[in-house]
Amino acid sequence: PVTERVADLLARMTREEKVGQMMQLDARDDLEQLVLERHVGSILHTSPERVLRAHELTDQTRLRIPLLVGEDCIHGHSFWEGATIFPTQLGMAASWDPALIERAARVTAVEVAATGIHWTFSPVLCITRDLRWGRVDETFGEDPFLIGELASAMVRGYQGDGLTDERAILATAKHFAGYSETQGGRDASEADLSHRKLRSWFLPPFERVAREGCGTFMLGYQTTDGVPITLNDWLLTDVLRGEWGYGGMLITDWDNVGRMVWEQQIQPDYPHAAAAAVKAGNDMVMTTPGFFQGALDAIESGLLQESDLDRAVGRILRVKFELGLFENARRPDAERIATEIATPEHEAVNVELTRRAIVLLENDGVLPLGHGDAQDAPVRTVAVVGPLADDAQTQLGDWAGSSGQAGWLPDGHPRDMITTVVDGFRRHVPEGWQVTHARGADIVTLEEHPDGPFFPDGQPRHPVVRPCAPDEDLIAEALAQAEAADYVVAVLGDQIELVGEGRSTATLELVGGQIALLDALAATGKPLVVVLLASKPLVLPPSAMGASAIIWAASPGMKGGQAVAEIALGLVEPSGRLPVSFARHVGQQPTYYNQIRGQHGDRYADLTQAPAWPFGHGLSYTSVDYSDLRIEQAELTPSDVVRATVRVTNSGARPALETVQVYVSDTVTSASWADQELKAYRQVELAPGESRLVELEVPVADCTIVDARGNRIVEPGDFELRVGPSSDRMRLLRATFTVA
Ligand code: IFM
Repeated sequence: PVTERVADLLARMTREEKVGQMMQLDARDDLEQLVLERHVGSILHTSPERVLRAHELTDQTRLRIPLLVGEDCIHGHSFWEGATIFPTQLGMAASWDPALIERAARVTAVEVAATGIHWTFSPVLCITRDLRWGRVDETFGEDPFLIGELASAMVRGYQGDGLTDERAILATAKHFAGYSETQGGRDASEADLSHRKLRSWFLPPFERVAREGCGTFMLGYQTTDGVPITLNDWLLTDVLRGEWGYGGMLITDWDNVGRMVWEQQIQPDYPHAAAAAVKAGNDMVMTTPGFFQGALDAIESGLLQESDLDRAVGRILRVKFELGLFENARRPDAERIATEIATPEHEAVNVELTRRAIVLLENDGVLPLGHGDAQDAPVRTVAVVGPLADDAQTQLGDWAGSSGQAGWLPDGHPRDMITTVVDGFRRHVPEGWQVTHARGADIVTLEEHPDGPFFPDGQPRHPVVRPCAPDEDLIAEALAQAEAADYVVAVLGDQIELVGEGRSTATLELVGGQIALLDALAATGKPLVVVLLASKPLVLPPSAMGASAIIWAASPGMKGGQAVAEIALGLVEPSGRLPVSFARHVGQQPTYYNQIRGQHGDRYADLTQAPAWPFGHGLSYTSVDYSDLRIEQAELTPSDVVRATVRVTNSGARPALETVQVYVSDTVTSASWADQELKAYRQVELAPGESRLVELEVPVADCTIVDARGNRIVEPGDFELRVGPSSDRMRLLRATFTVA
């Protein structure tokens, strides 16, 4: 029936109505013009008032085709004051826990749907490559397998058991594909990718969610092989529609069609740009007001055919029918807003995920704080210092409240819903302990962009970010507190203005007065715990590398300060594992672990190539030993499954949640390939002293490479199964198997 309903409606639509359906426009513009004159099919960047008004206007249109309302709710509801804000995707990825991420996405779906939004532009399936890229925080890290696992869970969480459920929302797999392969980390720069490279690492997570029914795909901004991705019909048509049989809807990124004219200068005018984009396979065009007249003129001049419109509009209408919008437009629902946002159950999911998202990078034994204290030990003082110790907005991360995105979001969340790191320590220290706080340094200030505050298309331009100089008075205040304390917790990282779309950083170092502050704190000789509230891995100065402990909390969302304090104080065990490697020096970029073999040894002349901490790394407060890796049967065919067991033993005195990681190395490959790739993992809880035999499985069909012709195949020969607590080769047990 959906197919018939689509055909019936299409047959009744005018050309103008069809072109309008293909447009998603900014709801902050004149709604009457968007709906009544442009027949717009979708809006974004809304508020419930604007959504309600847009629906009222839609009711006045000839065919009353319901609006599809989209928004960037990528780690919680991005603009709803008081909605649940989770850690960013990179933080979530540190949990390595698909089931928990699925529950978080479900929470987001329920909260977002209550406010009249049908569609989230999430998850991000880009692979982290160069850490200087401003959107590393939006990714699930650097490994295609882990990205696929977590993204697929997120899509299930958003879309639930079916889109007709009014508490389910449409998911978007973005940014299709290769957007994160930048030049020098710069956003939306050229992505120099061969088809083989795309097939090897960038496409597998997208293929997975396409086949699993992710409702929509969004393109990136970048140019590949001389063509903006918006026009890459090999990718959009041959691969996505042809090979993967994807029937969902494709949307461009922000003004991709206009940019081809005014920015990339690859199309002479809007009719040519509109025609080329539709012909290449795009269905919906995000925020290009000139698409309306451009597409109509393109049809008049024969650049575009009515059948091209029908194909695109058919896919858009199908989505609207599948969501049941013709029966129920799913407007904002006051009762659900009152009862289904930020419920105690949602908070519990957030707290659980945030605790799991924190990675203990180093610990000389200082953590948990006070654990060696005798019953009658004196009360302790903790100095929680640093510019991010009480910075709620940075902690929430990008796409949350009035965060970075050029200030388009309304005011942020009520302060009392956010537990900053200082709040967390104040609430969770043992009775009688003192917590003091000083900012110690500033990070950046903002100045208007020299080219003016707006781009030619009228969109706001990011201001210029200027690093602050060290401030002697601020340092002196923090030092005085450090001197008087038993422990110093320095909360540092990248302020929100250094994070996000169009905000790549040239360096990875701590900006502003932070290094001077750290140097001064380290010189006191007090036990120093560095807490990195860093949206992405940063490069740490020697004074941080020599600290007693280092915690990475990413952008941990509302409950970040609670989780950091609970872990530092030993109320919760640290269990996060890095989804992305940390570099020692910005010049090492890229540092992802799964680079191809054969890069002239493992050293620069002046520095090792090894990262500061590798993919998969993360400490706990206990020690877990690996032994007895055994493969059940070592002679296999491509249709078999490698079955193995490994013994993991908690030899320490505290419980562990261990992530047992399984890497496969194909010993000889016909084309260059990574030395090892993550193929499976298991998370096991171990009580102190407990030992378990963990069963592991890897289908041989997953032990593939992409050959020189671009085919993904299993090549017969010898393989190594490597099992251990991180991707660090020195820590992995090895066993071999052969594929005939
Ligand atoms: O969804 C985003 C995308 O990730 C980057 N450009 C803007 C879109 C809509 O806000």
